[in-house]
Amino acid sequence: LREREFELAIPLCKPNPAKLSESASALREIEQRAFFSNFGPVNTAFELQMVDRIFAGEGECLTVCNATIGLMIAIRQAIEVRPDSRRRYALMPSFTFAAMAQAARWSQLTPLFCDINASDWSADPASERRLLEKHHDEIAVVMPYATFGYAIDLARYEQIQREFGIPVVVDAAASLGTVSADGRGFGAGFSGAVVFSMHVTKAFATGEGGLVYSASSQLIHSLHSMSNFGFSGPRNAVTIGLNGKMSEVAALLATLRLQDFDAVMQRRANIVEQYRRALPELSFQPVTAHRQAHQFTPTLLPREMADCRAAIQAEMRRRGVESASYFSPHVAEQDYFRAHADLTTLPITNDVASRALTLPLFDTMTDGEVQEVTQAVKAALALCPPTRTPTRQLSPVTS
Ligand SMILES: Cc1ncc(COP(=O)(O)O)c(C=O)c1O
Repeated sequence: LREREFELAIPLCKPNPAKLSESASALREIEQRAFFSNFGPVNTAFELQMVDRIFAGEGECLTVCNATIGLMIAIRQAIEVRPDSRRRYALMPSFTFAAMAQAARWSQLTPLFCDINASDWSADPASERRLLEKHHDEIAVVMPYATFGYAIDLARYEQIQREFGIPVVVDAAASLGTVSADGRGFGAGFSGAVVFSMHVTKAFATGEGGLVYSASSQLIHSLHSMSNFGFSGPRNAVTIGLNGKMSEVAALLATLRLQDFDAVMQRRANIVEQYRRALPELSFQPVTAHRQAHQFTPTLLPREMADCRAAIQAEMRRRGVESASYFSPHVAEQDYFRAHADLTTLPITNDVASRALTLPLFDTMTDGEVQEVTQAVKAALALCPPTRTPTRQLSPVTS
């Protein structure tokens, strides 16, 4: 088995952050300044650059050590500005990564899951609204997920904030680099918190890192304080806090990634387009006129093949190609959240998750490797003749 794994020709991802070994002079400068963290000059310059280059000069950015911490402080801030013990829910889709629901649990909130739409796999407006209307007094925060970097409609969430008075925290973990329909970086102009990840598996790969954006300077200032032990001024805690700061070396990695980021984005988009053309058997997120950041290549199997997914993945692996099934199990299916969430019926989430097949994507992937993956997918699909099986459903629980 070890030998087989070693031979795996095409992994799901090949991390490719900027090379610190080629940036000795910038590292030396950090050492000479002896300023390694606490919002140092590299970090501050990076935050300003991001506002200018990604968010068209509007709003402010705050770096954090990772996106999960960014989500945790943004959720906590939403609670702090409207304290009320009745507000026990964080409304979110279940078709996402556990980090979102875990971040809510750190503020003792209970995830309340809405269903997703079958097209771009983000929160379904009707399902979300039903839960908002039913539970609005009990919802502390609304948490949409910009699914796999897709530019969801943030105007709807501005409207939710206005109509229900509930703060919105957007999980945009995979979206750094996505451009919205208005031509600006995804999130630009949004008045709530938009949280991006710079984990090494993302298009904007560093190592560990996150970025919180908001058009509201006041919000960013309060998150800045929460990410620094709640301090305002020298060691005077004025609010709840933790240590969410980004180190100078991490900020250098982020600065270097920004330099070659356009080329990285283009190459990744080109690979996804090749998959899309070569694999009409699979479903993809809709093509948008603007740019989408791509982390992996999420696809869906034909519905009749859902039960064959493990065999398809095994055959791909036998052919040297790694795959995954993001997000299956989806959050509500995971043991901890079965015990700590109020489960609702999620038919589209169940259907989409059961068919998820994630294909490899990395900056250095060659066209030949893309072809190898598509051939492996086709061969694996051919081994699984469609058997008409009904879609699985979560057993209905209360909402
Ligand atoms: C949807 C989603 N939210 C949050 C996170 C957490 O990001 P980080 O690893 O930077 O904490 C991830 C990470 O992959 C993610 O996919």
